[in-house]
Amino acid sequence: MNNKNFLGTQDWSRPELDSLLEQARRFRANRLGNELQGRSIALLFFNPSMRTRTSFELGAHQLGGKAIVLAPGKDAWPIEFDVGSVMDGEAEEHIAEVARVLSRYVDLIGVRAFPKFQDWSVDREDRVINAFARFATVPVINMETITHPCQELAHIMALQQHLGGDLKGRKYVLTWTYHPKPLNTAVANSALQIATRYGMDVTLLCPTDEYLLDPRYMDFARQNVAANGGSLSISHDPQAAYRGADVIYAKSWGAIPYFGRWDQEKPIRDAHKHFIVDEAKMALTNNGMFSHCLPLRRNVKATDGVMDSKACIAIDEAENRLHVQKAVMVSLVGSGIGNGESRMV
Ligand code: CP
Repeated sequence: MNNKNFLGTQDWSRPELDSLLEQARRFRANRLGNELQGRSIALLFFNPSMRTRTSFELGAHQLGGKAIVLAPGKDAWPIEFDVGSVMDGEAEEHIAEVARVLSRYVDLIGVRAFPKFQDWSVDREDRVINAFARFATVPVINMETITHPCQELAHIMALQQHLGGDLKGRKYVLTWTYHPKPLNTAVANSALQIATRYGMDVTLLCPTDEYLLDPRYMDFARQNVAANGGSLSISHDPQAAYRGADVIYAKSWGAIPYFGRWDQEKPIRDAHKHFIVDEAKMALTNNGMFSHCLPLRRNVKATDGVMDSKACIAIDEAENRLHVQKAVMVSLVGSGIGNGESRMV
């Protein structure tokens, strides 16, 4: 495996993803090791986190490595990302220096940078992590931007734990749920990509066509279906979508046509609170599993009854973040690309 970065799963082949999952299962069985002895990772958080920060920091530690957590604009200098910019605003240093300096210190860089939620045509360029990837000379890991590939691996690992290794033909529903705020489409984009990558029969359940995902991710899903089998369908009818499902994966997201004018989206969002995952809908499934990336607002996105049921595998999925991220870190440093070593990119 010689990928430079872990920015998205579409850049990685199925055998490579399967190999990461296999390694993650080994780390689940045996948490401690020395695979990252003497290695280090800088974790840059432009947005809050509980699971991602804890699991990366602890994962590096359990394998003998060291993680440095930085919050640019809070405990580290604010960064400019525009090339050629006259830096007379808030930013104190440029990504060209930040990424190159960190690359002299550490072996890996992790980045969490959510959209700004003003203009999707700008947000969809994913410029923060792409700038890190451009200027860094060590591998860069996506800790959630407009996709969440670490969550994807943790999700598939949890499904394989509960449904068996071959997920082909399983009926998978990605359901939008209500949330008082418009949230990132990252996990929804990711769920659509990885579920189709593993050959499942995927239904995207959302209130209206305005909640369809960016065409880039809809197209990735269609390409994955063409390559791996399975199917992709769209539904706005919860009862029909849940019927016979093996997996219900819930996420809330903001409708892309309303980016920057969220007051106009609010009435549509408010009219679809009934998309909550509840016991009555889960009873329509084929003894289906339920999961969510977390954090989750109980009794808004899913009821207490669903969250506390045997069907809920969200805690397993969250645990798996630790194992899959170790596998990603080891894979990237194991490609012979260490800090201070020259390498081809
Ligand atoms: N699922 C996830 O990424 O959790 P955090 O936002 O807490 O990191």
